[in-house]
Amino acid sequence: MGEKLVIFDTTLRDGEQSPGASMTREEKVRIAKALERLRVDVIEAGFPIASIGDFEAVKAVAEAVKDSTVCGLARALDQDIDRAAEALHGAAAARIHTFIATSPIHMQEKLHMSPEQVLEAAVRAVKRARQYTDDVEFSPEDAGRSDIEFLCRVLEQVIDAGAKTVNIADTVGYSLPYRFGALIQDLRERVPNADKAVFSVHCHNDLGLAVANSLAAVLHGARQVECTINGLGERAGNAALEEIVMAVRTRQDAFPCNVTVDTTQIVPCSRLVSNITGFPVQPNKAIVGANAFAHESGIHQDGVLKSRETYEIMSAEDVGWGANRMVLGKLSGRNAFRTRLNELGVTFNSEEALNETFSRFKALADKKRDIYDEDLQALVTETNLATENERYRLASLKVCSETGETPTATVVLSADGVEKTGVAKGSGPVDAAYRAIESIVASGCELQLYSVSNITSGTDAQGEVTVRLKKNGRIVNGQGADTDIVIASAKAYVHALNKIASPVARTHPQV
Ligand code: KIV
Ligand code: ZN
Repeated sequence: MGEKLVIFDTTLRDGEQSPGASMTREEKVRIAKALERLRVDVIEAGFPIASIGDFEAVKAVAEAVKDSTVCGLARALDQDIDRAAEALHGAAAARIHTFIATSPIHMQEKLHMSPEQVLEAAVRAVKRARQYTDDVEFSPEDAGRSDIEFLCRVLEQVIDAGAKTVNIADTVGYSLPYRFGALIQDLRERVPNADKAVFSVHCHNDLGLAVANSLAAVLHGARQVECTINGLGERAGNAALEEIVMAVRTRQDAFPCNVTVDTTQIVPCSRLVSNITGFPVQPNKAIVGANAFAHESGIHQDGVLKSRETYEIMSAEDVGWGANRMVLGKLSGRNAFRTRLNELGVTFNSEEALNETFSRFKALADKKRDIYDEDLQALVTETNLATENERYRLASLKVCSETGETPTATVVLSADGVEKTGVAKGSGPVDAAYRAIESIVASGCELQLYSVSNITSGTDAQGEVTVRLKKNGRIVNGQGADTDIVIASAKAYVHALNKIASPVARTHPQV
């Protein structure tokens, strides 16, 4: 297999920096357990100093995950590093990832620090982190736009100070593959102690080049790639894990290294991340998009039937398509239900919480014969949503939709414990339902996105709806699932309204 390429997943940290993608502690643990099943090497669980919620989430992931290293992000500040160490205390294997910007524009305009001060802070941060763990990673933020002489000095000194991984970040997605590859090679040749650390890359997708830049870096000696499931992340996102992994695995003729992830877990993990964050996966997305293995043209279909390799370079099964086993049905008992959810990383704090989810499961099983893992995940997401800060709750919904008539919706919403009814007409049943809800809440939110997808296949499948709302510059995503897509749509809207109504106080690592 040649050398190992370390897969560092940052869905729970950089992925969470996507507008509206914030996750609760329970959601992070579920995704972390899925990443562990995927056998990623490192899971960056969050930025512990950002808020109490972030701290608790990193702590919970550190305690839940046994087979992957759990990492916490810290700026090059003593208090950040101490907080990260505290959150990671219970981890079987812990990494502290500290960073500071090294590009002229970031040092002058954002940090107001001289290069010498930045260098000193970087070394100090790495030394402090080493007091807690041997596994310390340092990132020069905006390395893609940094001066190479300065970058070499910083890297040499942080490696001397004990950094075991140095992560070259293309923070603003400005690099081009041939130049980024050359940069990695130059750094490895010019930094005298380069052999004492693993070179890593962290690429953003502003020019659509995050994966290409990461792979160019791997060809020039990088042995860790930082990436996210579905390419989730700040702005245009990060390098997509599934694309990096499958490119390296499929093109072993080109890459001198390989990954040890279990690729059959890619699709289940992708669906879980999409379900929890409310970021739908575009159908033509490589590897995990619904059409990634669909052959439309007759010539292709004919070729694939004769020999799969004529038009397919990977098999759908290898990346986990079709892995959604039927796990439970109408006759399944509480024990089977609890056991399967435990296997999926879901635990219940109380018998009451188990009962609540189980009764939702029974209601779903009445409507839908076969219940798959994806259905269970959506069910848990929904139960968690219902127990979060719930200012609004959908009590009932009735829609009349008939050919030639304008649809009307009647919604009963519990708002701060008081039931209110709203009636409205709309261009379609969903539009009518949203207008009826707005006639009660008058939220003043702007609807930025509405999307429906099916959780599993078949006409009895649950529809999963995502809505994105914006108010006063804040963006939230809401999700809802139901076999009736108008109800799923109303649930998603109410979920987003609840999120908008709950206050947040959180530090952004790069601001
Ligand atoms: O994009 C970036 O520079 C980062 C760092 C914290 C590594 O996310
Ligand atoms: Zn980033």
